[in-house]
Order: sequence, then structure tokens, then C-alpha cells
Amino acid sequence: SSDFFVEKHLAGQHWLITAGPTREAIDPVRYISNHSSGKMGYAIAHAALRAGAKVTLISGPVTITPPVGCHIINVESAAEMHQQALEHVKEATTFVACAAVADYRVANVAQEKIKKSNDAMQLDLIKNHDIVADIAQLADKPFIVGFAAETQNVEQYARGKLMRKNLDLIAANDVAKAGQGFNSDDNALTLFSAVDKTEIPLASKHIVAKKLVSLINEHYQQRYR
Ligand code: CTP
Ligand code: CA
Repeated sequence: SSDFFVEKHLAGQHWLITAGPTREAIDPVRYISNHSSGKMGYAIAHAALRAGAKVTLISGPVTITPPVGCHIINVESAAEMHQQALEHVKEATTFVACAAVADYRVANVAQEKIKKSNDAMQLDLIKNHDIVADIAQLADKPFIVGFAAETQNVEQYARGKLMRKNLDLIAANDVAKAGQGFNSDDNALTLFSAVDKTEIPLASKHIVAKKLVSLINEHYQQRYR
């Protein structure tokens, strides 16, 4: 069988990928974030590069190294990721939103370290812009793939996001299942379009990424054929 990487099926395509968590500052020494490791998004970037695509990777703070050959843009907050994504989407043929973007930011970031006082304290949060949903509203938008990390009702929530955000595809995973959570080297995904559903069984994130990139390309080719 022909090898997806050797054949360079993505030659001429430009993939824009978000990966990792974002950090929302509370004060100069503290932030709100989540458990995303960036491994899945970096594996997708690696697979897309090997298949011949140009890749721009917008990454929140992670401890792993970006694949050689991609254009890496490092960001901290959801607002920075949003700004960079909108700036770089113009050249993209495919946008993969793999980042675990913080849904809220702190309303009033303290300029100095907050000192503890009472037993309880409140933080006011404001909703961040939805990067993938905003990109899906552009007139000249690329082919758009979202992710949905869920702990319950995976198909229902994933399909809801696919429709509500106006995406072409959504890759869903059950983060409550053993071996496919946030920091794992393994993952299993279900890829949904408006009309179909494809399972990618539990395997290393590199194997899952290669299958996912190949499936995304099949849907992309169908669309623009
Ligand atoms: N996403 C994004 N910008 C945000 C929030 C989410 O681009 N501000 C993207 C993610 O990268 C992912 C998809 O939207 O591709 C779904 O993210 P998820 O957190 O699962 O969905 P939400 O719409 O934020 O809903 P909830 O967290 O309530 O499940
Ligand atoms: Ca969210």
C-alpha cells in the first residue's frame, strides 16, 4: 500500500494549527490554565509536515519541542492566540483548532502580586473570544477542523459544537477514558462531519495524528474537487 507520507499528499496545502493550553494572568505570578500538553497538536503538525504541507503552529506554553520545519508562533493568553490565528489564517488552506483555549480571562489583572487577606476571595472572569468560531465566520475561510475534549455525552456535545461553530469536521475524544486523557502519549478520536462518523482507535498520538491528517485531507479533497 502507498505510504501517505512518501506520496506527499498535502503538497501545496498550508495548515494552520493551534495547540497546547492558554494562560490567563491573575497577577504577575499567577494564572488560570488547563491540563493540555500540546502533544496532539504537535503530532498533527509533524504529520502534516511529513505529508508535504507548509505548517504554521500557534502554541500556548508547553514543554515539548516543535517539529522541525514548521513556523512556530508562541503565545500565552487566549487573546494572543486569537490575534495570531486571525493574522495567519489568510494563507491557510486548512485550520485545525487543537488548542485547549481558556474560556474565560480575569476581568481585572492585578499589576502587583495579590496578598492573601480573608478566608475566601472572588475573581471576576470575562468570556474569551472563540477562535475557531470566529475563523468559521470569515468570508474567505479555510477548511476547518475543531476538537472536542469531553468527559460525558461525547457524540452529542461534539456534534453540537460542529453545527454551532459551523465547522467542517470535529475530532472528539473522551478524556475520562483511561489512556486518552490530557497528558497521555496515546489517544483515540472519533471524527464527525455533518453526515458521517469515523473512529480512530486508541494508539500513540503520532499514529492517531497520521490517520487524522489523512482523513482530513480526504474530506478536504471531496470538498474542493
Ligand atoms: N476553541 C477556540 N476558542 C475558544 C474556545 C474553544 O478556538 N475560546 C476551540 C477549541 O480549540 C476546539 C473547539 O473550540 O477546537 C472546542 O473547544 P471546547 O472547549 O471543547 O468547546 P467550547 O465551545 O469552549 O465548550 P465547552 O468548553 O463549554 O465544552
Ligand atoms: Ca472550552
